[in-house]
Amino acid sequence: MSEPTETQVALSAPRSFPTDFVWGTATAAYQIEGAAREGGRGPSIWDTFSHTPGRTQNGDTGDVACDHYHRWAEDVEHLVRLGVGAYRLSISWPRVQPGGRGPLNTEGVDFYRRLLDSLRERGIRPWVTLYHWDLPQELEDAGGWANRDTALAFADYARHMARELGDRVEVWTTLNEPFCSSYLGYASMIHAPGRTEPEAALAAVHHLNLAHGLAVRAIREEIPGAQTSVTLNLHLIRAADPSSPADADAVRQIDALANRAFTGPMLDGAYPEDLLADTAHVSDWSFVHEGDLEVIRQPLSVLGVNYYFTTLVRKLVDGGTPERADGHRSGDVSPWVGADDVEFPARSGPLTEMGWNIEPSGMTELLVDLHRRYPDLPLAVTENGAAFADEVTVDPAGRRRVHDDRRVRYLRDHIDAAGAAIDAGADVRAYFAWSLMDNFEWSYGYTKRFGIIRVDYATGERTWKDSAHWYARLASTGLLPDATDVEPLGV
Ligand code: FCB
Repeated sequence: MSEPTETQVALSAPRSFPTDFVWGTATAAYQIEGAAREGGRGPSIWDTFSHTPGRTQNGDTGDVACDHYHRWAEDVEHLVRLGVGAYRLSISWPRVQPGGRGPLNTEGVDFYRRLLDSLRERGIRPWVTLYHWDLPQELEDAGGWANRDTALAFADYARHMARELGDRVEVWTTLNEPFCSSYLGYASMIHAPGRTEPEAALAAVHHLNLAHGLAVRAIREEIPGAQTSVTLNLHLIRAADPSSPADADAVRQIDALANRAFTGPMLDGAYPEDLLADTAHVSDWSFVHEGDLEVIRQPLSVLGVNYYFTTLVRKLVDGGTPERADGHRSGDVSPWVGADDVEFPARSGPLTEMGWNIEPSGMTELLVDLHRRYPDLPLAVTENGAAFADEVTVDPAGRRRVHDDRRVRYLRDHIDAAGAAIDAGADVRAYFAWSLMDNFEWSYGYTKRFGIIRVDYATGERTWKDSAHWYARLASTGLLPDATDVEPLGV
């Protein structure tokens, strides 16, 4: 056999990432902590929702989840073994401030203080999200995100956390996916609190935006120089028929609702005119008060992007029954406020267990486009991953293994796509795999496994999947391993 030529070597060289690129994994409090009634924690809308018959698959709740509240030290060890430089977690608001207002619960604050200290001692930088959907129930009883006061309460909570946890936190993220909190929670019954009030959903959009702006301001007042952020699940939207003007308009409409309703006020200082026009029959947006837009538009250190799939839209003709393969568990009512004439055609494969189409190039497009629009704003992929069914096997050496090759390929191809965005000039600084471990997948309960570490819910036992071995290799070298490089390191 002849020696490989220089070009062949270059072609087969693994993709490399900048040495200061941040590799991490992500979780959220309600999905992993459990201990729902321990340590002085108050109830959240997800406790109420998951305990309401019919809302989650199998009636699953986050009561115990991964029992991370008790097993956190073991979970930190997994992060250390993975070799990641950062960990994205969320604080449970009702654990630290049970009623959403008033005095803090010291036991709850101490839990996070210990966790953050332990992460920092082990060289893992905490990226902390203040709101990953677990609103204190008392605030929902007073109107929830449809009520402006909730935004004020959130700013107060953010200020408390900045005071209590201070420089233990590397990056402060205000909200996770306000799209889901507003439309899925207040319009479509898919998420807590399970309301079906389109106008309340739009009010929630605004109050979440306001909460973000107020919180960033409060954090910066408490910690000058704090790094602040927000995580959005921005949708990469394609027309079913690229040559149809009607479908192009559907793209515009869904882009306004899903993306620009948040990037508009947060990054450009205004709500898009077309969003206001499209939803005028639902609301006059009088909940937007004078001065709000200045508050909402705050300088950010980094924009978090969660990416899983692309969105296909088509203008509905003849008032037929719309297809609703929009990636969100179908409820009786559409989350797409004011867009009843848009449908989401069923996707063809490859799909994940969630029915989400696998399209890594969508992530490249999204990141490159964001960079083009906001060239000075660094970007981070704060969630990306896939649900697939997997099982534990025992290898000839007696080691417990989970051969999740489809998840390894999904991660590899998407991280490659993030690399392609960097090649094209996008300022992408970090990537967080969703998720560190299998967990409570909201209305799907425990039926969907996204973890790179498997959780046995009966015993709490954690088992590394091949994807965890693969990710550890990536995190330790910054070189994108081949999808078959899944042998445990150092064994
Ligand atoms: C995102 C959520 C996260 C997880 C993944 C699969 O929308 O932020 O909590 O459920 O989806």
